[in-house]
Amino acid sequence: MLLTAQWIELLSEYHKKDLNNAFGSVLILGGGVAGVIAARTLHERGHDDFIIIDARPELGGRLQNRQFGRADNTRSVELGPNWVQGTQTGNGPVNPILTLTKKHKVKTQFNDLFGSLSFFDFTGPSNFSDVFNEADDGFSDLIAGAGARLQKRAIDTTARTGYSLVGSKPKSHQAQTSEYYLWDWEYAQTPEQSSWIAASENNNFTFDPDQGFSGDNLLAIDQRGFKTFIQAEGAEFLKPSQVLLNSTVKSVSYSTSGVTVTLTNGKNLTADYALCTFSVGVLQNDDVVFHPSLPDWKQEAIQSMVMATYTKIFLQFPHKFWFDTEMGLYADKERGRYPVWQSLDHKHFLPDSGIIFVTVTGDYSQRIESLPDSQVKAEVLSVLALMFPNVSIPQPTDFFFPRWHTDPLFRGSYSNWPASFATAHQSNLRATVSDRLWFAGEATSFKYYGFLHGAYFEGMNVTNLLIDCIEAGGCSGLGHVENVPQ
Ligand SMILES: Cc1cc2nc3c(=O)[nH]c(=O)nc-3n(C[C@H](O)[C@H](O)[C@H](O)COP(=O)(O)OP(=O)(O)OC[C@H]3O[C@@H](n4cnc5c(N)ncnc54)[C@H](O)[C@@H]3O)c2cc1C
Ligand SMILES: *[C@@H]1O[C@H](CO)[C@@H](O)[C@H](O)[C@H]1NC(C)=O
Ligand SMILES: *[C@@H]1O[C@H](CO)[C@@H](O)[C@H](O)[C@H]1NC(C)=O
Ligand SMILES: *[C@@H]1O[C@H](CO)[C@@H](O)[C@H](O)[C@H]1NC(C)=O
Ligand SMILES: *[C@@H]1O[C@H](CO)[C@@H](O)[C@H](O)[C@H]1NC(C)=O
Ligand SMILES: *[C@@H]1O[C@H](CO)[C@@H](O)[C@H](O)[C@H]1NC(C)=O
Ligand SMILES: *[C@@H]1O[C@H](CO)[C@@H](O)[C@H](O)[C@H]1NC(C)=O
Repeated sequence: MLLTAQWIELLSEYHKKDLNNAFGSVLILGGGVAGVIAARTLHERGHDDFIIIDARPELGGRLQNRQFGRADNTRSVELGPNWVQGTQTGNGPVNPILTLTKKHKVKTQFNDLFGSLSFFDFTGPSNFSDVFNEADDGFSDLIAGAGARLQKRAIDTTARTGYSLVGSKPKSHQAQTSEYYLWDWEYAQTPEQSSWIAASENNNFTFDPDQGFSGDNLLAIDQRGFKTFIQAEGAEFLKPSQVLLNSTVKSVSYSTSGVTVTLTNGKNLTADYALCTFSVGVLQNDDVVFHPSLPDWKQEAIQSMVMATYTKIFLQFPHKFWFDTEMGLYADKERGRYPVWQSLDHKHFLPDSGIIFVTVTGDYSQRIESLPDSQVKAEVLSVLALMFPNVSIPQPTDFFFPRWHTDPLFRGSYSNWPASFATAHQSNLRATVSDRLWFAGEATSFKYYGFLHGAYFEGMNVTNLLIDCIEAGGCSGLGHVENVPQ
């Protein structure tokens, strides 16, 4: 599937002709989960006149792994998505990511996020499981409260307003950190920055056994990388001529009669349609320029969604000195300061790896991205010293964290719905521009925004609508609301 640079040149010349032959050619902008599933959908319906364009050297998008650790003890760790979130309950709906990981034999392992958890604060080990259980009740009340609001057709507010209205008002550091584990660690932003109703529905559509898949999370530990499920799926149907890697899109020119994409190397590709799957962060930051500028209603939708950031900070030590549970929760005096610790050196995951990682989110992620690695490493080690006062912490043998927020191909980790984002904004984010420019990706998913399965369903469902349109000889596509009402 890999192409050499010369092949790419030859093929893009070839495609210029090929794509213009019959009506219905499609440029798929981005080769993440949404892009690959869009391509599969086209292929399955007999439309092979497409090219996936991606700036990266491989398919998978945010699914990225890296060899981590000292030379004689390296392991593959996941820098982006790590879990299949929600599996299946009985014969209920199945998470399609679970289906693909099974099909391609990608190794996953149940992660006991609530049953295998140790507690720490700035004085060392400190069992605040009772406080944690109260926070868990608060979260359930919050989700139920949103359901009641939804029935009354009441306006959305922030999740902070919601928490306060259901009486969950965490005051201690331990209570605030427990809330963080249940909220920020999922949405990558604080309750103040998140919607109450939309986020609660998002929770239910994935994790509630009645409305979604299940409450289980499977951690991918396959040493080929979690990305294997989508790369292997793509390899089943993609021809080399249908994938253009190492190719960064600079601008997209569109009209009601077609689309021309210009790459940073000056090459142009022309087709009848484009399906843009770039992250909402990329669209927000003008990393790709549109000619003409996107209409006001589209720009408002793009700028009203939030691209949040979730950062995993990996450490490897000569030996394991920490907790035996899968997870550790640390309550600092500052909410969100190095709070969630995940042990990979655990019999269920990567035993004898010496690897542990800590996650930060939201504004804290942006803060550490602007610091040198050395400072972040020193801060993380000082937190470990507080958590384990009687241990002499050895120097790490490796240290790494990805900078998703500053990466021009992503500008964050995944979208988070703020309270000021109206449902009409959501349809506008997904809507077609000038009949020919279509949009899909995790952020355009109403039910599953933020998740891999959101990207999957959008890649499939938007593309099916696009194919209906092609087969009808053209159409105006997914409609929008010109002015989002109050
Ligand atoms: C740290 C982190 C943790 C996560 N954890 C989970 C998890 O555990 N479970 C879960 O379900 N989801 C998780 N997610 C979310 C999940 O990764 C996304 O929802 C999903 O991968 C999005 O797929 P996509 O196809 O919509 O977008 P992308 O994967 O972003 O695909 C878009 C593609 O466009 C390309 N691109 C961008 N700009 C250009 C350009 N100018 N020219 C050419 N190509 C370009 C990019 O390289 C990329 O390949 C996580 C994400 C991150 C970052
Ligand atoms: C993409 O570029 C990388 C180097 O950055 C190279 O190793 C790889 O072979 C290239 N892939 C293709 C398909 O050209
Ligand atoms: C923490 O306290 C709870 C009761 O509050 C108890 O059930 C649990 O076993 C304790 N955990 C540890 C690790 O001591
Ligand atoms: C989520 O599911 C719970 C349990 O089924 C329900 O009580 C609640 O109303 C639902 N909330 C939303 C926002 O759908
Ligand atoms: C690509 O298209 C742009 C306008 O869309 C044009 O200005 C430019 O000359 C074209 N480049 C090539 C190499 O054809
Ligand atoms: C640390 O050592 C002191 C003194 O021996 C002891 O009182 C304390 O319980 C120890 N703390 C932990 C977390 O083991
Ligand atoms: C995808 O489309 C199908 C068929 O129209 C629909 O039943 C399903 O609800 C859609 N799924 C999502 C997540 O939008």
